[in-house]
Amino acid sequence: MNPTPHIKTEGTSKFQIGEIKNNVIHYDFEKIKTYLNIKGHILFGKNFRIYKEDEALLFKLCSYFIQDHYSCAKMGIDTRKGILLTGPVGCGKTSLMQLLLHLAPHKTNYEIIPTRNIVFNFNTSGFEVLEQYNQTKNYCFDDLGVEPVGSHYAKECNVLGEILLSRYDLFTRHPEDVMLSLPKYVSGSHQTNLKVNNRNKTHITTNLNTEEIEKRYGNRVRSRLKQMMNVIAFDSNSIDKRG
Ligand SMILES: Nc1ncnc2c1ncn2[C@@H]1O[C@H](COP(=O)(O)OP(=O)(O)OP(=O)(O)O)[C@@H](O)[C@H]1O
Ligand SMILES: [Mg+2]
Repeated sequence: MNPTPHIKTEGTSKFQIGEIKNNVIHYDFEKIKTYLNIKGHILFGKNFRIYKEDEALLFKLCSYFIQDHYSCAKMGIDTRKGILLTGPVGCGKTSLMQLLLHLAPHKTNYEIIPTRNIVFNFNTSGFEVLEQYNQTKNYCFDDLGVEPVGSHYAKECNVLGEILLSRYDLFTRHPEDVMLSLPKYVSGSHQTNLKVNNRNKTHITTNLNTEEIEKRYGNRVRSRLKQMMNVIAFDSNSIDKRG
């Protein structure tokens, strides 16, 4: 285990994004932004920058990804659930999910998979592909809603709809359910001891709003997503960063 997860190393440079006090990391959002700017440059090129108008949303996401239970509770974010990141085309959803993987990997880890790839795999390999996601690993399904309907030997399947339903069952069946009665604002160190956050998490990026999700996947999926994820939305006027 990394003994100093609050110090990030990029090449020969070190970035301290928080301080350890009594065994708990106290993160500093200004320092996090500096680090994310640099890491964004490395990952996405020199045009990357943190937009002023995205900062409120970024603060929410950072609080979630460092699992700051107290700040999240104040903003109505449940740290036990996943994130449904919605916003217009090109506003930077996928980039943020890629970038924030690097913020606190000891707290939050997930594999990002484009939904289209899942459906293409389904079309060639069939229903065993659904099983692959029916396990307690964390996933971010990227670009929900753009994938075609699955078709394996003429058998049609709403692939992502099925996967999300089974991930909901996993999420609610998890033995850590007993911890649900805990107050949301239990401080960082206590919660880690109690392993409240051991449930499998599902994250999503999408252009769809909740009504459109219902239209495409049905109300069973929509209502389960609400229980499984915190909806975090870019402003509908956010610019397309593809330029
Ligand atoms: N903060 C940023 N600064 C500069 N460029 C950015 C920033 N965020 C994203 N980009 C660039 O903008 C483009 C779109 O970003 P991204 O793919 O993350 O958007 P998206 O919201 O996932 O889009 P879509 O809805 O089409 O999936 C990419 O080329 C990315 O490198
Ligand atoms: Mg995207």
